Amino acid sequence: MIRDNHGRPINYLRLAVTDRCNLRCFYCMPEEGINFLPKPHLLTFEEMVRMVTLMAEMGITKVRITGGEPFVRKDMMAFLRSLKNITGIEQVNITTNGVLTAPLVPELKELGISSVNLSLDTLDRERFKEMTRRDELPNVLKTLDALLENGIKTKINAVVMAGKNDQDILPLVNLSKELPVSVRFIEEMPFNGSGINKEAFMSHTRIIEKIREACPSLKKLKDEAHSTSSNYSIDGHQGNVGVIAAFSRTFCGSCNRIRVTPTGTLKTCLYDDGVMNIRDLLRTEPDNKIIKEKLLAAFSSRPKDGFEAEALRSAEVSESMTTIGG
Ligand code: GTP
Ligand code: 5AD
Ligand code: SF4
Repeated sequence: MIRDNHGRPINYLRLAVTDRCNLRCFYCMPEEGINFLPKPHLLTFEEMVRMVTLMAEMGITKVRITGGEPFVRKDMMAFLRSLKNITGIEQVNITTNGVLTAPLVPELKELGISSVNLSLDTLDRERFKEMTRRDELPNVLKTLDALLENGIKTKINAVVMAGKNDQDILPLVNLSKELPVSVRFIEEMPFNGSGINKEAFMSHTRIIEKIREACPSLKKLKDEAHSTSSNYSIDGHQGNVGVIAAFSRTFCGSCNRIRVTPTGTLKTCLYDDGVMNIRDLLRTEPDNKIIKEKLLAAFSSRPKDGFEAEALRSAEVSESMTTIGG
């Protein structure tokens, strides 16, 4: 197993397969979208399979597919099948907005995808439309049903902003009463080109206080190692709730993850600028041993946390989450 320069194991790759998306969440991108990348700039599936194979040889065991929306990329299912066949890759998980996912769920199950994180910020159809600029809530809920029917472990990701969707916190908490899901509330990160909106920022502590007021039986659970979320049980609930301090960055000390963007930029922290381009290396370097040496060097010079990474950034933070993969 590889450890970074701070002794943290690196075994989790977050791979963003596209920057395109069929929603327009206002905290992520403008109505008109962003300048989406031309296809030749993207890693091909063959390149991704070669890269993940090398990383698996180095100790990566878990891959999470993100985007943009992964399922807007063509031939995703064939790609997932290839990933599942890579020796050493124990888990392939997906983060999806659920718009196109429902009909694919039985095949995901058959492929052995054991866990899906579904982005869902509100259960109110009108607010969903306002927040995502698309009227797709019914399709997302069909995906949720399909995931549970097929016995796929499901986590709901809800980005919380005061004054926008804080009234959705308790209805979403209630979902964990009725369904065996983990509902995780996420602090908004200012990766939308507009900087953090101080009035609308809900910290993880404020979110938990609000849940505790309504559910006094809220009890801290023991978190899995390297978890981004801090999780809680509530008496009488089949599922549980959690908060992800994505902006406060409370979990950097146990961070086990690296990221690859759709163009092959390797990020050893969500908040860094990108430390090398793997696509160019894959396209010019036939010797896998050399590629692995370069990856190892990158894994061995990680910033200690998101604050250090942010301080080292050369550019003003202006990327959309869709080009990073969350
Ligand atoms: P699990 O593998 O199920 O624990 O999921 P995850 O939390 O690693 O991934 P997911 O794609 O569901 O991300 C949920 C939220 O956590 C998103 O808003 C991510 O941007 C945020 N997140 C994930 N990894 C990191 C990280 O390393 N640093 C920060 N600051 N936020 C992260
Ligand atoms: N801040 C926090 N989370 C975000 N996500 C997208 N943009 C942001 C942001 N600015 C979340 C999505 C998805 C996950 C991958 O990242 O809701 O669940
Ligand atoms: Fe699409 Fe996710 Fe961005 Fe929403 S947050 S526009 S679902 S990539």
